[in-house]
Amino acid sequence: MKQLNNNDNVVVVSVPAKIHLLGEHAVVYGKPALLTTVDRRITVTIQPRHSVSSTRMTDIFEPILKKELGLKEIPSYKLEISSNIPIGCGLGSSAAISVAYFGAMLLFLGQHWDLGKINALAYKAEKVFHGNPSGGDNATVCFGGLVWFQKVNADKKIIKQLPFSIPENLSKNFVLINTGKPVESTGEMVGGVRLLSEEKPEVVEKFLTQQEHVTKELLNVIKNGDEKNFIRIIKEGEKNLERIGVVSAFVSSIIREIENAGGAAKISGGGGKTKGTGMLLAYHKNPDVIKKIAEEKKLSYFQIKLGVEGLRREA
Ligand code: MEV
Repeated sequence: MKQLNNNDNVVVVSVPAKIHLLGEHAVVYGKPALLTTVDRRITVTIQPRHSVSSTRMTDIFEPILKKELGLKEIPSYKLEISSNIPIGCGLGSSAAISVAYFGAMLLFLGQHWDLGKINALAYKAEKVFHGNPSGGDNATVCFGGLVWFQKVNADKKIIKQLPFSIPENLSKNFVLINTGKPVESTGEMVGGVRLLSEEKPEVVEKFLTQQEHVTKELLNVIKNGDEKNFIRIIKEGEKNLERIGVVSAFVSSIIREIENAGGAAKISGGGGKTKGTGMLLAYHKNPDVIKKIAEEKKLSYFQIKLGVEGLRREA
């Protein structure tokens, strides 16, 4: 890989979406989360150009890049983005664009391609976007595969790329249902839980203990492809999320329907209070059952592949 200034060349990178198998919200309080990548990607192209232009996004990214790399100026460049990751729906779209941008810029600037560094830069941008994110989203889309993530404290994060993937008997049965973009941002949903932890600390404490327990249990269940317990754990994890008020009545009724049909479903990410919660991660041993429920409700859906490669150089 070229280490010297790469400015004459076009740089292309791509980054996948992510989904929380379990642990969202609890992860903000230091509990573990299990995340994986989804086969939807954002592609960023950067090439030199003579005039300078800026966008709201580059206004956030560039100061981070300059400060962290000790640069006075960034050579003028043209940024192109194409993506099939829905925005603001719990699939980590902001984390994906941040990782893709910093990954592409390191190459464009002739810097060492270092995933740890790219992830750290992306986390700084995520903090601007969301306030107090755990960093799980950017770590997952950067490193890829199945990721065990824990923010132990402000300075220490455990990021483990697991040495196994979701077995075929489970992985072929996931469907994402788009329940609609949440009215509330991820930052607002995280803020709502923070408020609840002040008003009713016992509710959030119980949530954290239970979610940690089922997230740890999920790890072995996935490893062993244990479908029966997988369904039970997803149901328990979802109920816990509902207890802290991050799942709207509209979406919890869809989830009950999937459960009554023998499957399981959960929000993934911040969730929503008003109506849509973004993408619902749904599982059934016959995915057609989920598709039928989605169709009846006129909601779009797509079958997904999980555990795909993280940040990747394309050109
Ligand atoms: C957002 O995708 C997941 C949350 O746990 C927030 C975070 O981890 O930063 C709700």
